[in-house]
Parts: sequence; structure tokens; C-alpha cells
Amino acid sequence: MLSKMLKVAGIFSEAFRDAVLFLRFNSYSPFVDPSRRAFYKIIIEAHTIEKGLSLPDPKPMFGKDKVRFVMAALSRYDIGHSPIPAHMSLGALDAYLNFHTRAGLSDPLLDEISVYLKAWEARLPRPWKGGTRDYSFQGQPLNSLQQLMASRSSIRTLRPTPLPPERVYEAIALAQLAPSQCNRQSSRVHAYQDRQRIQALLALQGGSRGFAESVGNLFVVSSEICAWGGPGQRNQAYVDGALFAMCLMFACRSMGWGACPLNLAIDHKTEDAIRRAGGIPAGERLIMMIAFGEPLAPDTKVAFSPRRPAAEIATLHA
Ligand SMILES: Cc1cc2nc3c(=O)[nH]c(=O)nc-3n(C[C@H](O)[C@H](O)[C@H](O)COP(=O)(O)O)c2cc1C
Repeated sequence: MLSKMLKVAGIFSEAFRDAVLFLRFNSYSPFVDPSRRAFYKIIIEAHTIEKGLSLPDPKPMFGKDKVRFVMAALSRYDIGHSPIPAHMSLGALDAYLNFHTRAGLSDPLLDEISVYLKAWEARLPRPWKGGTRDYSFQGQPLNSLQQLMASRSSIRTLRPTPLPPERVYEAIALAQLAPSQCNRQSSRVHAYQDRQRIQALLALQGGSRGFAESVGNLFVVSSEICAWGGPGQRNQAYVDGALFAMCLMFACRSMGWGACPLNLAIDHKTEDAIRRAGGIPAGERLIMMIAFGEPLAPDTKVAFSPRRPAAEIATLHA
């Protein structure tokens, strides 16, 4: 009895310490190095531009506020911290400019971007790793895990046709090869092919704006909370669930489908609303959604999303 009470108290005290740690180090915290915070903020905003350009039919002059924000924030940023935000921003702005020039559009903001990019060329010479890149589902051998990993990208140009259920099960069975703590296998996956239900779920998610209409197959990955107990295991549903979700995305790629992870960085109210809309039991924690389907065309464009050099994120301890 006492040990159970201690566990309950531990859950509250760990939740409190989680909150303190998050407050101390989150992206709004004044106690975090400004360059570190600016690094993430610029990447996030530059990504909305590269993502906008990777949509099936980008809206002319979309995201003007984002464009202005990225230019202003990059001007204040110290590229000595890492040049990646500059590559992403300049590449995205360059692609934004080219997209509109090709469409024969003119706007004072486009002139501003052109002047801005010229000024940056001396500081960070082209080619900039940003904007969009060509992606093909054809001609890429997938004979090894390395090739499969290198060929996965978030695909936002999908065909809405529902995939055969036996193929969907095949992909899920592949994803079940993911490791899980003590082989608990607490991950769950809900698959949807009804267009109306998918639209209702995506409306609650929000991150698929601009391509939601083309989603005809959707996974919601969740994890059964009853697999976990005690304060130390409070985040394990997310760990196992995310490993499963990653394997599911690789499985989709191996089936020749496109897939796009969709965040569920949401509050409890929205999580409940998604559970209700998706018929998901109350005891499952939602991990993420994955839009998937046949690619709209074998050749497409994807957001560049460059990776940092490994040495920037790794610490090899003696
Ligand atoms: C947990 C998670 C949530 C994501 N949420 C979204 C989203 O809501 N909408 C979207 O278009 N892309 C989303 N993405 C895709 C990322 O933008 C993408 O993975 C990143 O830019 C790297 O590009 P890549 O997947 O093509 O390698 C998400 C990715 C992850 C891992």
C-alpha cells in the first residue's frame, strides 16, 4: 500500500520537475542562449516556406509574413553558431523568388528578396542548401537499409486513392519489427480511408494545410498507456510509439508509397477531440498521424530540409 502511495506521489513530483525543466529550457526561456533559440526559430519559419513550395499547388505570394520574419531574423543571427539556418532560409527565399518569377508575378516583396539575397551572396556563397529538391520514386534501388533510409522524404503530393487493406496490413506488419521495451508492443495504429473522417481528423491536426484534400489514407499512431506504470515510465509511450511510427514510415516507402508525418503537438482537449473523431479508446496516448498513399506522380518536389553535419550534433565523449 505504502509503495503504491509513493508511486502516486512520484508521478506528481516528476510531473512538477518536468514542468520546471521545460520552463527553464524551452524555446521562450530567457535563460537559454539566444543563438541556440534563434537557430530553431529560423529553421522552423524557413521550413514553412520550403514546405509551401513542396505542396501540389503553392498559392501565389503565400506566407509573406514568414518571408519577412525569416529575412529579419537571419540578419540578426550569428552564422558562426551554425550555417544551417542561413542555408535553409536563403535557399527557401531563392526558390520562392524563382517560383514567382517563373509564374510571371511581380510584387515589391520579391524585389526586396532579390536585393537581400544579393547582399548575402558575399557572406555565404551559393549553392544554398534549401528550398525544394527534385525527388523521384523511380530508379532508386532500395536493396539496403541505407538506400531505404536515404530515399525517405516527407511527401506532400499524394494520390487520394485508398490503398488495398491487405497492403496496409503488410506495411503495419513490417513496422511491428520495431523494438519495444520488454517487447511490450504497446503501439497501436488506426488506419482511415473514409474521406470525410480523414478531413475531420486533419482539421484537428492542422499541419497538412495545402495538401489535406489529397489525403485518402491516414494513420494515427498511438500507444496503450496501461503498458506503463510508475513515475519513471511516464514518457515511454512516446519513445516506443515514435520508434514504431518511424518504422511505419520506412515501411510505406518500401511499399512504393509516399508518406508525411503529421505532428500531434496538441493539448488534452484536442487529443480528446481526435480520439472522438477517430474512434480511438481513451486509454491510448496519441503519438502522431501519418498521411500516406500512392505518389501523385513518380517525380515530385520535396522540401530540401538539409541536415546538419554530424559533428554539429554529436559529442564523442572520451
Ligand atoms: C513528429 C513529426 C511531426 C511532423 N509534423 C508535420 C506536419 O504537421 N506537417 C508537415 O507537413 N510535415 C510535418 N513533419 C515533417 C517534417 O517537416 C520533415 O520530417 C522534416 O522537414 C524533414 O524532412 P524529411 O522528412 O523530408 O526528411 C513532421 C515530422 C515529424 C518527425
